[in-house]
Amino acid sequence: MHVAIRYFTKSKKGNTKKLAKTVSEALGLPAESVETDLTEKADRLILINAMYAADIDPEVKAFLERNREKIGEVFNMNTSATGRSTLPAVKKAAEKLGVAVSDRAFHCRASWIFMNQGLPGEAELTAAAEFAKSVLN
Ligand SMILES: Cc1cc2nc3c(=O)[nH]c(=O)nc-3n(C[C@H](O)[C@H](O)[C@H](O)COP(=O)(O)O)c2cc1C
Repeated sequence: MHVAIRYFTKSKKGNTKKLAKTVSEALGLPAESVETDLTEKADRLILINAMYAADIDPEVKAFLERNREKIGEVFNMNTSATGRSTLPAVKKAAEKLGVAVSDRAFHCRASWIFMNQGLPGEAELTAAAEFAKSVLN
């Protein structure tokens, strides 16, 4: 089974990048930006993103569209200030393209402006690593 990791971040804060680095280390697989298209079919794609204006960024949607033929199933992971999941937004974008999205997903609270300073912290990153490992099963 081939597993790939892609992430998208648009802030300099790097919360998503932190999550991506944790997942990459936990699985021993590279985490690339969504600017990098898949080169082979990913049976499972771990898509790491953040909530912006109650949605996912258009670049995440564009990645799904460009790579739709190469994605078996998406496993969503995200941070947000509210702690809300981007799973509904990812599902909406992916399912239009005929791309399957798992209901198994990870999300955690993260810093934004003056909110949630220090998050994601150790507890959130440990939980993220555990979730990523569970995607292999
Ligand atoms: C432009 C912008 C819009 C955001 N909108 C939301 C939002 O609607 N809901 C929410 O929970 N968090 C929102 N956030 C907070 C981000 O989801 C949170 O800070 C996330 O961890 C950012 O990840 P990043 O550092 O990788 O960009 C927003 C952040 C930015 C920069």
